[in-house]
Amino acid sequence: MSQKQWNPEQYKKDASFVPKLGQHLLELLQPKPGERILDLGCGEGSLTLEIAKSGATVIGIDTSAEMVAVAQANGVDAYQMNATELDFEMPFDAVFSNAVLHWIKTPEKVLNAVHQHLIKKGRFVGEFGGHGNVMSAQTCLIEALNQRGIDGNKYDPWYYPSQEEYAELLDRNGFEVEMIELYQRPTPLGEDVMPWLKLFSDSFLQALPVSEHWSYLEEVARNLRLRLPKEDDEYILDYVRLKFVARKKE
Ligand code: BEZ
Repeated sequence: MSQKQWNPEQYKKDASFVPKLGQHLLELLQPKPGERILDLGCGEGSLTLEIAKSGATVIGIDTSAEMVAVAQANGVDAYQMNATELDFEMPFDAVFSNAVLHWIKTPEKVLNAVHQHLIKKGRFVGEFGGHGNVMSAQTCLIEALNQRGIDGNKYDPWYYPSQEEYAELLDRNGFEVEMIELYQRPTPLGEDVMPWLKLFSDSFLQALPVSEHWSYLEEVARNLRLRLPKEDDEYILDYVRLKFVARKKE
């Protein structure tokens, strides 16, 4: 399956809540002047720049060339790189990641790469989608493919571990878990679900010819509207986050 393509303009318009809702993670990271920190999946770099305000030297990486170009234009020292194939000569005091790790279905590879790039006792701090994340949307996307005779699960791009599962994985890969917590974060999507679906469902769309994309998305959107609660005219999606602070053991 090909890698998710990000459109920085569309992301800014329909997903600007992602870095905003990640601000609280800076308190978990506690960046300090002089530290060397890697932002894994920096996107357009807004949280990277926030971290840099501490006086730390921050480098961002992202798989998307378009996002890296925007981050660089925003003043971030950013590189196009895969989180599973980090390639830096000097180790980091800390690695940070917001809203990225659920896109990578090989979490052990990420943990190995992070482990190799941290100093001894260096910290890995992050947040991503945990067990049950956006389940309403995921179910509608999968079911609409199943109804077309396609195994929808095969096109699901997301990794949403439970707290226990990820804590165990961190431990098994050389990290001491200082804090890990799964929590519900119901998130307003705006007046309609379609912008969110268009931005995030390309993996599912790969199962279908282009001529069927729109009718598929319309069906998913119809079903999703029926499932989601609304507040002040905004649909609320069932986001679940898994946040953690882990320290390299050796
Ligand atoms: C998330 O940040 O949890 C997320 C965003 C888009 C699609 C799926 C999950």
